[in-house]
Amino acid sequence: MSTIADEVENRRTFAIISHPDAGKTTITEKVLLFGQAIQQAGTVKGKKSGQHAKSDWMEMEKERGISITTSVMQFPYAGKLVNLLDTPGHEDFSEDTYRTLTAVDSCLMVIDSAKGVEDRTIKLMDVARMRETPIVTFMNKLDRDTRDPFDLMDEVESVLKMDCAPITWPIGMGKEFKGIYHLLKDEVVLYQSGMGHTIQESRVIKGINNPELDDVISEYAEELREQVELLEAGNSFDKQAFLDGKLTPVYFGTALGNFGVDHILDGLVEWAPAPMSRETTTRTVESKEEALTGFIFKIQANMDPNHRDRVAFMRIVSGKYEKGMKMRHVRVGKDVRISDALTFVAGDRSKVEEAYPGDIIGLHNHGTIQIGDTFTQGEELKFSGIPNFAPELFRRIRLKDPLKLKQLQKGLMQLSEEGAVQVFRPLRNNDLIVGAVGTLQFDVVAHRLKAEYKVDAVYEPISVATARWVECDNATTLQAFRNKAYDNLALDGSDNLAYVAPTMVNLQMTQERHPDVRFRETREH
Ligand code: G4P
Repeated sequence: MSTIADEVENRRTFAIISHPDAGKTTITEKVLLFGQAIQQAGTVKGKKSGQHAKSDWMEMEKERGISITTSVMQFPYAGKLVNLLDTPGHEDFSEDTYRTLTAVDSCLMVIDSAKGVEDRTIKLMDVARMRETPIVTFMNKLDRDTRDPFDLMDEVESVLKMDCAPITWPIGMGKEFKGIYHLLKDEVVLYQSGMGHTIQESRVIKGINNPELDDVISEYAEELREQVELLEAGNSFDKQAFLDGKLTPVYFGTALGNFGVDHILDGLVEWAPAPMSRETTTRTVESKEEALTGFIFKIQANMDPNHRDRVAFMRIVSGKYEKGMKMRHVRVGKDVRISDALTFVAGDRSKVEEAYPGDIIGLHNHGTIQIGDTFTQGEELKFSGIPNFAPELFRRIRLKDPLKLKQLQKGLMQLSEEGAVQVFRPLRNNDLIVGAVGTLQFDVVAHRLKAEYKVDAVYEPISVATARWVECDNATTLQAFRNKAYDNLALDGSDNLAYVAPTMVNLQMTQERHPDVRFRETREH
């Protein structure tokens, strides 16, 4: 085997998907604790004590207690190198989250065991399914009163249409949470409360029929044996079904108590796929190919006030990145020498010497890189499947100080480039229309314009219902359409033509009148 094949085998790249408050941030901290990227997990409780989870970067996140940015963390675990891509938790940031899911090979789904399967989890699972991403499930918060574990699994099966194979099984819950039984290892791992900030040496009792178990957990031992008998009638773990996204291994525990998180990591490292191949518009690129290829799934500005630049996040698909190497920026048609790519250890940035498939590297971006761009060692390729979604909410943005128009335009273009918001410039006037998928995006943009570009901007309502990207193969037809629909046409942040519809009825009528023009709800980068 070549080194690249070894490095591929050695890596796992995943993201956590969950409904807000299910425990994603808490799990991320504990995962990093195991990865020893940080010594002592700062707790989410820190909102009160002044400590913050290391995966939360921006000031606003701290103020609001939500993760806005997608951070990337790499750490060693059980002989493998794990890349964890953090996804924004708030529903307003769905676009970024969707694109992040194009850059991973598996997902950890976290469910609040008191609540079960919630909306946002359903939506994210739909996205994860587009690529049949394997899913590992964690039923969290067993230290509280939760729903019946059999019910929880039934709900996953019926709502998410995925078979469940429990790998661990909870013993008791809430104040009576005793620990878990590991079905594959036939051992009970006992839970101790109040140890969440550490890596615990848990007491393990081998064998479900071990009399020691009756001494330690008394009446729960018999109940456990009965439940495990029932489980034997259900699904057992099948690796192929997992890899096909049809079956999910299920674990139980408490992220806050740092109990069960290592079981999930063990499962991910053992079963989740190594960095996989990816489709381009012309061929499939295998991860073990020697030549470097990668795609940009996210651009982010000013992540750290000390580094006032923009960073493009590239998922390496094949080959090897080496410091100082030349890469071809395919869309632009230029070769660029990259000597200062970044890697991310939960917010601390460091320079990468080399990186392999599955790794994420950060490229300094001076405005030439866009989401969806492909980099290669010369081959003309374009990775497919990285979407932009039509915004659903629109506002006109106006300056308090009209002399700052240049800064406003620059700021909006950069923010749209990184996917924080979408910008539309009507052909007929100088308005700047901001389009978002969720309302919080507007606040974030105003806040960042002020903090990063020193621009005070306000929003005004505008009667726009939706936008569609316009495409037409025939230049004459397109020109005729442009003349007819001129008043409702605009250019987006990347100069693509879009139809900005005042009402849905208007859109429908326009579509009927121009059957040869395509009105697209998503634009592939
Ligand atoms: P998120 O990123 O998915 O939004 O969730 P996050 O980890 O921030 O967790 C949401 C809340 O749930 C936090 O409490 C967190 O402490 C709590 N939590 C996470 N895992 C567990 C668990 O296993 N058991 C229990 N009992 N609670 C858990 P909060 O009150 O919203 O935050 P804070 O005020 O304590 O900081």
